[in-house]
Amino acid sequence: MADLFHVVGRQRACREFRPDPVEDDLVERCLEAATHAPSAENRQPWVFVVVRDPELRAMVGDLTRRAWRGGGRQHSEPRLASGLLTDVDRGAEGGVAAAPVLVVVCGDTRLGLEVTLPASIFPAVQNLLLAATALGLGSALTTLPVTFGAELRTALTLPSTVQPLAVVPLGWPARRLGPPRRSPVSEKAHRDRYGAGW
Ligand SMILES: Cc1cc2nc3c(=O)[nH]c(=O)nc-3n(C[C@H](O)[C@H](O)[C@H](O)COP(=O)(O)O)c2cc1C
Repeated sequence: MADLFHVVGRQRACREFRPDPVEDDLVERCLEAATHAPSAENRQPWVFVVVRDPELRAMVGDLTRRAWRGGGRQHSEPRLASGLLTDVDRGAEGGVAAAPVLVVVCGDTRLGLEVTLPASIFPAVQNLLLAATALGLGSALTTLPVTFGAELRTALTLPSTVQPLAVVPLGWPARRLGPPRRSPVSEKAHRDRYGAGW
């Protein structure tokens, strides 16, 4: 099993997948890792809907495309480096939905205050992403499709207390991704007081 720091250093968004299936036991291992995340009061408000049905995946893909074309792209275009824009574009136009598995990550509002719900869900999403990376699977944290949460809720028969917060595709990467580009710690960390430098 890969070293944690190696996995953390390789984890990145994958938006192009091979059509090969992903076995259920691998998905379950990712979910197992996700369910070991911390959460407020240890209430574990996460709910995972594992979508394999081609029609439902196409529906999620459609919501993603609509969110992207209906404002997402316009918002992101001036902010994203051209390579990333091209990548997100491809993902939103069908790349992400082509993954054989889409994990719709939701929060149960009965198990957490609505304002703190995302803070209790996203550590689980991060564990899911890291586990996928450790297993050699491609994955990505996406939020574009949850723009249309009501439609997602209807299609997946989510009760009104279960709020969709993210969609994570899981599949075998179509190509090898290079290392993630991140600013060094020295640009982000301070000793004792802000501005003191590292
Ligand atoms: C809150 C959040 C929302 C995101 N939503 C999307 C999304 O809807 N679609 C997408 O393709 N990527 C999405 N991403 C992935 C980011 O684009 C990605 O993490 C970032 O560009 C770093 O890229 P890398 O993983 O390739 O290093 C999201 C990431 C975060 C943290």
